[in-house]
Amino acid sequence: MPYFDPRPKERAEDLFDREEELGKLIKAIVRGDPLVLVLGLRRTGKTSLLRVGLNKLNYPSIVVDCRVFEEKTYVTYADFVKALEDSIDKVLPKIKRLARFVKSIRGISVHGFKIEFSLKEKPTLIGLLEALNSYASSENTRFIVAFDEAQELIKLRGIKVLPAIAYTYDNLRNVTIILTGSQVGLLYRFLKLHDPSSPIYGRVRTEIRLENFSKEKALEFLEKGFRQYGIKPPKHIIEEAVEKLGGNIGWLTFFGAISLREGVSMQALEKTLEEGSKLVLSELMNFLKLRPIASTRYLRILYALTLGAKTWSKIKSFLEIEEERKISDSILTKLLRNLLDTGFIIKRENEYEIADPILKYAIAKYGKQLISKSKEH
Ligand SMILES: Nc1ncnc2c1ncn2[C@@H]1O[C@H](COP(=O)(O)OP(=O)(O)OP(=O)(O)O)[C@@H](O)[C@H]1O
Ligand SMILES: [Mg+2]
Repeated sequence: MPYFDPRPKERAEDLFDREEELGKLIKAIVRGDPLVLVLGLRRTGKTSLLRVGLNKLNYPSIVVDCRVFEEKTYVTYADFVKALEDSIDKVLPKIKRLARFVKSIRGISVHGFKIEFSLKEKPTLIGLLEALNSYASSENTRFIVAFDEAQELIKLRGIKVLPAIAYTYDNLRNVTIILTGSQVGLLYRFLKLHDPSSPIYGRVRTEIRLENFSKEKALEFLEKGFRQYGIKPPKHIIEEAVEKLGGNIGWLTFFGAISLREGVSMQALEKTLEEGSKLVLSELMNFLKLRPIASTRYLRILYALTLGAKTWSKIKSFLEIEEERKISDSILTKLLRNLLDTGFIIKRENEYEIADPILKYAIAKYGKQLISKSKEH
C-alpha cells in the first residue's frame, strides 16, 4: 500500500516511521499484557498501528469498531452486539474452530460464518470473552480483543464493559484487550482509572501514545510519498502544506491523495483544507449535538481561540462580552475540560489551542456563521 492510500495501513512496510510505537505494541502483546491503550488525537494513525501490529503477529483477534456509535446519543445492547457480531464474522472464516467455542454460550448461535447473539437471552460480554480465552488456551495462543475508539463505549446502556475488562484482567490469561482512543480524557473517564470505585482501578496498563510528526518528518513523509509515484514535488508547496497541516499524518496523506489526482499545487492544498473542513466540522457537530444547551458557547470558545484569546481569563472576557452577562468560573472550567477531554483543544502552559490544524482553519473561516446559526436554535 503506498503512503498516500487513505485507508488505514495494514503492513509494517506501509507505515512511515512509527517503528518505536509498533515495537512497543508488539512487545506488549507478546509479553501477555492484559490491557493496552493506544492513544492519540484524531488521524494520528491509531487504527493503522493496531492493524499492522495484529497482522504482524498473526494471533487470533477481533477488532470492534466503536466509531459506528459516534453519531449516537446512547448505545443499546442491540447496537453493541451488532458491532461485536461484525467483528467476529470477519474472523470466523479464518479461524474455523472458533465457532465451536462461541456456540457453546447460551444465546449465541453460528450459521455458516455468521454469529448471532439472541436479543432475548442477551449473552454477556464476559461469556464471550471466556469462550475466546478457552479457544486461545486450547490453541496455546493469545486472543486479542481490540475496541477501536473505545471512548464511545461510555454511551452504553445496560451492558457492563468495565467489569468485563476487569474480569478479563484478573482471570483470562489468554486474552489481551486493546483499547484505542482519540478522545483520551473521555476514555480515561470511561475507564475511571483514577477512581477507587472503578473495577479496573489500580490495574497496570501499557500506554502507547501517537504524536503528530515534527515538521522535518512531515516533509520527509510527503517527499517519500510522492517519490513512490516518481513525482518530485515543488519544495515551496510541500513546505506550505506542512505549515498548514502540521505534522498530522492523516491530513498529510489526504493532501497527498488529492495532489495525485489534481497535481501538486496550492489548489490541491486549498482543496485539502476545504474538504477537511467539512469532515472536522461534522465531527464537531456530533459533539455539539450531544450538548445542545452549551453548543453556542463551545463554538464561541473555539472562535475566541482563533482570534488569539487563548488564556482562561481572555476566553472568559470574550464570552462575557459576546453574551453581555457574567459567566461563572466553574461553568467555563467545565466547558474547557470537555473540549480538552474530547481532544478538540489542547493546553500548552497556560494557553489553550485548537488541536487540529484544519479545525483551526475551519473555525477561523466559518466560526461566525456557525455561531449565528447555533444561536437560532
Ligand atoms: N505511519 C503512517 N504511514 C503512512 N500513512 C499513515 C500512517 N499512519 C496513518 N496513516 C494514514 O493516515 C490516515 C489516518 O490513519 P488512521 O485511520 O490509522 O488513524 P486514526 O488515528 O485511527 O484516525 P481516526 O482518529 O480518524 O480513527 C489514513 O489515511 C492512514 O492511511
Ligand atoms: Mg481510527
